Parts: sequence; structure tokens; C-alpha cells
Amino acid sequence: MFSKSAIAFLGLSCLHGHAASGYLLPTAQRATPRASFIPAAKQPLASSVGPASQACPPTRSRSSTSLAMGFMEEFVANRDAEQLMKSNAAYLSTLQTRVENINGLEATIEELSDDELAAKTVEFRSRIANGEDVNGKLLEEAFAVVREAAWRVLEQRHYDVQLLGGLILHDGRLAEMATGEGKTLVSTLPCYVNALINRGPAMVITVNDYLARRDMEKMGQVHRYLGLTVGLIQAGMKEEERRKAYACDVVYVTNAELGFDYLRDHLALSPAQTVLPPLNAEGKFDGFVVVDEADSVLIDEARTPLIISKQVPAPANKYRAANTLAENLKAGVHYEVDLKNKNIVLNERGYKDCERALGVQSLFEEPSDASGAWAPYIINAVKAKELFNKDIEYTVLPDNAGVGIIDAFTGRVLDGRRWSDGLHQSIEAKEGIEVSEQSKVIAKVTYQSLFRQFARLSGMTGTAMSDAAELEFTYGLRVTPVPTALPIARRDYPDVAFRTRDAANKALVKEVINVGGGTKEGRPCLIGTTSVMQSEAIVSALKEAGIQAELLNALPQNAAREGEIVAQAGRPGVVTVATNMAGRGTDILLGGCPSTMARLKTRAMLFDQGVLSAEEQKFYPPSPKDDYYPCEIDDDAKFMIVGAAASLKKEFGKELTAIKFDELLTVATDTTEGEDDPEYIVKLRDAAQAVKEIFQEKLAPEKEIVKSRGGLYVMGTNRHESSRIDQQLRGRAGRQGDPGTSRFFLSFEDDMFVIFGGDGLKNILQTFRVSDDMPIEAPQVTDALNKVQLAVEEKYRDIRGQIFEFDNVLNEQRKIFYRRRQDVLFSNTEKTLKIMEGYNQQTVMDIVKAQTNEDESVKVEKVIEKIGQFFPAVLPVVIADDMSGMKKDEVVSFLNVAVEEIFNAKVEELEKKAKADGRAPGSLARSANYITLVSMDNAWSDHLQNMENLKENVFLRKYQNLDPADEYKRESLALFEGLLDKMRLNTIYSLWQSLSPVGAPQPTNG
Ligand SMILES: Nc1ncnc2c1ncn2[C@@H]1O[C@H](COP(=O)(O)OP(=O)(O)OP(=O)(O)O)[C@@H](O)[C@H]1O
Ligand SMILES: [Mg+2]
Repeated sequence: MFSKSAIAFLGLSCLHGHAASGYLLPTAQRATPRASFIPAAKQPLASSVGPASQACPPTRSRSSTSLAMGFMEEFVANRDAEQLMKSNAAYLSTLQTRVENINGLEATIEELSDDELAAKTVEFRSRIANGEDVNGKLLEEAFAVVREAAWRVLEQRHYDVQLLGGLILHDGRLAEMATGEGKTLVSTLPCYVNALINRGPAMVITVNDYLARRDMEKMGQVHRYLGLTVGLIQAGMKEEERRKAYACDVVYVTNAELGFDYLRDHLALSPAQTVLPPLNAEGKFDGFVVVDEADSVLIDEARTPLIISKQVPAPANKYRAANTLAENLKAGVHYEVDLKNKNIVLNERGYKDCERALGVQSLFEEPSDASGAWAPYIINAVKAKELFNKDIEYTVLPDNAGVGIIDAFTGRVLDGRRWSDGLHQSIEAKEGIEVSEQSKVIAKVTYQSLFRQFARLSGMTGTAMSDAAELEFTYGLRVTPVPTALPIARRDYPDVAFRTRDAANKALVKEVINVGGGTKEGRPCLIGTTSVMQSEAIVSALKEAGIQAELLNALPQNAAREGEIVAQAGRPGVVTVATNMAGRGTDILLGGCPSTMARLKTRAMLFDQGVLSAEEQKFYPPSPKDDYYPCEIDDDAKFMIVGAAASLKKEFGKELTAIKFDELLTVATDTTEGEDDPEYIVKLRDAAQAVKEIFQEKLAPEKEIVKSRGGLYVMGTNRHESSRIDQQLRGRAGRQGDPGTSRFFLSFEDDMFVIFGGDGLKNILQTFRVSDDMPIEAPQVTDALNKVQLAVEEKYRDIRGQIFEFDNVLNEQRKIFYRRRQDVLFSNTEKTLKIMEGYNQQTVMDIVKAQTNEDESVKVEKVIEKIGQFFPAVLPVVIADDMSGMKKDEVVSFLNVAVEEIFNAKVEELEKKAKADGRAPGSLARSANYITLVSMDNAWSDHLQNMENLKENVFLRKYQNLDPADEYKRESLALFEGLLDKMRLNTIYSLWQSLSPVGAPQPTNG
């Protein structure tokens, strides 16, 4: 009943977008055992666990002085890297025993029929229900069952190190496993076990929709085979679909979707609008969570909160005027640019000149038109001019449709994200495009706050050790490196540094040529950059040298083709230029990936056969051109595709959706055959297999060429602000024991060194009097560069620490506020009336208190005036004379009785009326609920703004020798108390306005 008004109130027409069907997949069990499952290849790749140090990147011990926050300092000091490694080794050896136990169960488990294997799920559930410890024998049995199921369904048998990874996740830790070690498969183990506990879903958090869907389609097969339900959340899904998906045993969802669902659930105006499972008694989500690419989500993205806002008109003229003004202001004359802190500071002359130009007394003066003082407009305009560069920090969307933020980590354009506080509009004004509406934040949360609300949190990624202390401190996640299945055969060469960027790029291009990049027999090269602009510069430098490179960066058309580009990035001589995070989660196979290519080819040919409507085909990026594939496919395979297409058309006709089609392709290409597979799957599987074999045959020798030439060559251009990201880039080479190389081509002109390098680096340059094109490869240089990077890492760690400290304050408030909100949202009539009674009494108390003199006597006339405002229906029954001479407490009791009587009479009257009209009871409570929720949301939105203002404000107090964090904590408490009062007063005011005096005719809205 509230949904329409809710949407109007929120102004959020884009909330859940359009529907997409078919995400929720029914539980399916395969009926009969399959015979041919135990080939020789079933041997584990590595049967014992090597020394823990094998896969661990060295952890840097930190100088505690550089950590600004005392508590974290202590924490780090107590837990230095060496100790961490030691305790890890001991921990891993205890897990190793469990791995052996799991291996020991294999012989019995593999004897089970498919039905018997699936029946294990029922058995485990009942054993758990009967009180058996999940972490005992059952855990090992369950792991053995999942391993067998994965083997039967996907023909992938968890390696021992994968079991180890699974146990680590189940323990609520962060498993560090290198690229290509098969983390996706690892997550099936703890998810299965935790889903059995029946306390909320097991969630796999991935970084984008594509990976969520890919992993659900493939890994979901294993869970479903074992009788679990599997759900998937994708952007644009409707509430109904989301709710169903979250109700499944295992759910695949992105961090952003989960975060926004969390926020939207707390803006819901009726229980029917919520989608997430309810919180437990401790106010936590009971489910189990594995965060994939955990370092990216939990550290790199921790700085950016998720925000839901509503649009209010922006004063475009003011933004444009500020922009013109900013264009005329000069750095060093009117303002200073602080690159380190990404800030600009207007100086006195700046203020004065602006005031003169605008003809105002002060830039801080509030004008009468409510558009706000000039100062933030001008500061944002100067920020837009100095700190925000087109195609680095942002891009102008096609047709000047707005400004899109480029994610510094992924290089992707962040769909729909906007800078807040007028900055976005200032950039639009700078670009001369239409100034969009301004947003007012109505809900926000950081990943730090979100993920700490899960009772059982775990994570996995290729790179986490260098931030182990932070992960443990913030999330309670102990980082545990898992040895690789095979020894790492990658060689990491020392960095080379040049005086200029240009020289570094030239050297890089030369190196690409040296190793045969761009030729049919050469090494594949992956070049990592830290910005879109840089990646484009490299691509054009390569082009000048006659080398065609693939670009994997922020442009939307590239993002959609990621899998396709990565699938051939390991072929001989292929050169790929990527922004740093692009392509995480999709691994580069030496010689190329025949399965992905076969999938793409099969898909394209099925499209040619018209299996999918043109409308649904738009869901995909254009199919690759013919020269993308290693070779033509033969007539037999073509014939099989035509057959498969006919069979699909017969089964689905025009009904086939893109989602369903993808799912069918996954079943056909990634799973083993089942006896009851329908004909269209059998045909599709055979056809895709035929295409794959053709490609495989062609690619096998290419793989050998690449291997013999040394594998993938990863080249870095810049050091990233976090060495972890550099490590991630290096890790793209040398997966699963492959050969590979990595090297960074740096320059002293790189932003990081220019901004943070200081005199140390300048001195080094003086010492090494080298020409521009001479590489400096001395250890002192690498040391100096390392130091700069370390300093930058510390700086950002401190910033995150500070955000964490500040955010914690808001987080505690959010928890209290949200819990109250949920109480109201899910309350029944009786409870709501109870809450309202409490509100009534508190309000009476407030009114009287405000009008009480020092001697406890009360200003009765004033009290009556206020009662008239807040409780108009009560006014006729309170007479000033009745209260004369009463002290405060007596007045309060007197008024409470009056208010309660009228309120109860009102409730009764409405109930009677509802009954007579044949309407549902509880109408007053329903109205009260609605009014309370809306008041709460309005008050919370204002509170978020106030807290933001407070944050700005307390930072200035540093100059008065006050501690900003302390100041923030102290004042935010007052703000929060004010918020709760405001919300209650608004509720009571609105509710009583709708209650006319008893006996008067009622509005009939119920
Ligand atoms: N036990 C296994 N048996 C056979 N193949 C496996 C096994 N485990 C994983 N793989 C394969 O290894 C490849 C890499 O797996 P996956 O993408 O899960 O790695 P990852 O650790 O997540 O890497 P990244 O860090 O790039 O995300 C996939 O093609 C997967 O199918
Ligand atoms: Mg992965």
C-alpha cells in the first residue's frame, strides 16, 4: 500500500530498474551415477603442503612512528610479519591433518551413487540439527562430498591446497591464494558446509556482475547437484527476484549490489519491500560470506562509501559563474594546490578577489535564495580545474550525457556513481555540459561497516599479506597464505628507472619488440598501467612501432569484452595493455583459452542461426571478428551447431532470454553429461566440444611456443600507490607453475615519485648523472623508490584508519538507528501503539520541561499553546485553570493522562469505524508506522549532512590544538540525540495532525 508514495518520497525512480527473469534456479538432482569418472588425471597436483613461506610475498615490517593511530600502532608492533608467518605455518600443519582425513574418505565417497551422494546433504543437515558439531568429523565428510560432486559435475577435483584454502575460509580467515589457483572452486567447500547450518545463506561476493553470474552458473552446478538452492543477484533485478535469491542456500552477488540492498532495505516503507534476510539477535547477518578479491573490496574500496541520494535542483548559474571565476584564478597567487591531500586552499587574496568579482561582502555569506554561500562553489570549481583531469579521474559520457567517474583501481567508468557535495556539478560546469541536479544523501554505508556486520566473514584474494595487519584489525580477518599447487616459476626482474616517462615508455616498447611482441612466434606481453591516459599513450607508442595492442581499460565497450580479450592475451606475440585491476578474476592461459574462444564462437554461430531475438542479443557485446579465432571451424562442427540451434529453437522458440541462454551454454561447455540431460543440451554440448577441439588442436602448439619462450611477460609502467596492486599485476604471470617474467619500467616523472619523492629522489638523480634514455638499475634507486611507495602506502593506510575511526562513530549510530527503524518497520499494531505511547509521553515531557521555571513552576499558557500544536485533539480537554499551581511533575502526569485518554479513544473510534466499513483493523497503527518511517528517513538524511559538515568543521580545529576525532565523537553524540528527538517530534506532530478531535468526522484514508 505504501510503495507508490515511498518511491515518490525517495525520488528514486532508478531503484531496481527493469526486470530480468530466470535468475533463480531450482534445485536439481541428477538421478543416476555416471560411470566414466575416475581417469588417471584424478591425481592431485600437489598432495602435501609445502612450507608456508613458499607462496608468501615478503611482508614489510612497518615503522610504528609513521602510523598515526595509537591503537593500530600497538597492534602492528605486536604482530610483526615473522611471527605471523610462524603461526601460519603451525596453523597450516594442523589443517594438513584434516586434508589427509578428507583424502582418506575419498575411496568410500566415490563409491556412492549420485542419489546417495546428494542424500548426504539431508544426512548432514539432520546431524547438525541433532547437535553434531559442524567443525568436527562432519566438516571433513562434507568437504569430501563437495570434492566428489565437483569432480562428477565439472570434472574438477579440488587439489589438496584448495581443500586447505576451503578450511581457512571456513575458519573465518582470509586465504591468500595466487592467481589461477582456483579460488572460485575453493569457495564451494565452505559455502556448502555453512549453508547446511541453516542460519542465513552462504554468500559469495564478487566484484562485478559478470563474475557473479559466471561463478554462479558454473559453481552453482555443484551445489544444486548436492541439493542446495542457488541464487544470483544482478544489477537491475526486481525486489521479488532479489528476495527469492537471498532466500537460497548459496547466493552469488557483487559487493555493490549487496551494499545497496542493505541500504534500500533500510529505506523500505513496508516489510514487503525488504530483500535481505533479517538480522540475528546481536544485530548481525547470520549468513556466511566469502569476499572474492578481498583486498580490493575490503581495502581499496573501503574509502568510498556507497550512497543513495535523492535529487534536488542545482543552481546551475552559480556553478557556471564559479567556473568562470576559477578559470581566472591563478595557482600560487590566489590559491595553493595540495596534491598530496587532493585539496586546494584559497588564500586571502583569493577570497578578496572573488568577493570583489562577485560583489559580495563575504564568500561565506548565506544568500536569501537558499542556494548557499559562494565558498564551496568556488573551491569545488578550483578543485575541478586543478585536481580532476578528463580521462583520468573522469570521462565525459557520449552525447555529453554527463560526467562518469573513472575508478582509479579498475580503470572502469563507475556506472551511475557521482561525486558528492557539488563537485560533480562543478566538473560538469567546467566541461561546459548541462549541470545536473544535485544530490542529497539519504543513506550511506562503507564496506568497512557493511562487512563487519556479518557473523561469519571470510575472504580470498591473490594479494593480502602486505595489508595483513589492517585486515585483521578492521575486519578480524587473519590473512593466511596458502602454498601454490605447483612451485612458482615466474622471474621478477629488478625495476629499471629512467629520468623521463618518455624514455621509460620507449624502453618498454623496445623490450616488447625484443621478446617478439606483435609477432606470431613471440612472447605474449601484458602491460599494466595506472591510468586510462597512460594506457592509451602506451598503445599509441606501440602502434608507432608497428605493434597492434589490445586495450583493457575504462571504456565501457572494453569492459564488456574483458573475457574475450583475456582469453587470447596468452597467445604468442599478443600484447595487451590494461589498467591495473581490469581483468581480475579471469586468468590468462598460455597459448590462449580454447574454451572461452569456443564458447564465443559457438555463441556467435548460434546467433547467426537466430536462437536469440535481436532484442536479447543486445545484452552482449558484438561478437569478435573472424580473425580473433585461431582458425576456421570445419563443416562437421558447423553442421552440429546448426543441429543444436534447431533443437534450442524447438524447445524455447522466441522465449529464450540472454540469461537463460548463458546458463545453457555454461551447462553445455562446463559440466559433464548427465543421464537425463535434454536433447538440446546434449546437442549443444557436442557442438561446443567439437569447436573447442578444433581450437585446442590449433592452440596446443602455440602453447608450447609460448612456454618455450618464457611464458607471459608482465610489464609494469608505474608503481601503484599500493605495492599490493603491483604484486597483483606480477601475479598474472606464472600461474599454476607456468613460466613467466615481470619487470617494471619506472620514471622519476611518475606522479607518485614527483608528489611524494621529495629531495631524496632528486639527490639520487644528481648522483647518477645519466642521460634521459639511460636506465638506472642500481639497488639504491630501487630502495629509494620502495621507500616512497612505502610512505604512500602508510599515508593511505592512515587515511583509511582515520576514515575507519570517524566512520565507526557513524556506524554505531547507524546500527542503533537502523535497529529502531527495523523495529518500527516490522512492528505489529500492538507494538506500534506502544511505541507511540512512549513518543507521546516523551513529547509531553519535552514540552513541559521547556516551559518550567527554576522553582519547578510551569508557564501554563505556553504549555497549552504547545499542546495545541503537537496534540490538537487534546486541546479541548485541557484547561489552564486545571493546571494552575501545579509543579512540573504534576503537570506532566496530568497531561499524560489527557493525551493517553484521547489517544486510546481515537484508536477505539477508528477500529469501530473500520469494522463497520469492513476494513482491516489497525489503521491508526499503520498510519503511525508510515509517518514514523518517513520522519526517521528525513531526519537521518539531515543527520548525514550534519555529520558531514561536522567532519569538515572539526578538521579546522586542528589549528586550535584540538583533536579532530575527539571533537567529532563528542559533538556527533549531541547531533545523534538531536536526531532521535527530531524524528520523534516530527512523527508525533504529523500523526496528531491527522487525528481530529474525538467525535469529529474522520478522513477515510485509513
Ligand atoms: N581443481 C581443479 N581442477 C581443474 N581445473 C581447475 C581446478 N581448480 C581451478 N581450475 C581451473 O583453473 C582456472 C583458474 O581458476 P580461478 O579463476 O578460480 O582462479 P583464481 O584463483 O580465482 O584466479 P584469479 O586470482 O585470477 O581470480 C579456471 O580455469 C578453473 O576452471
Ligand atoms: Mg578469481
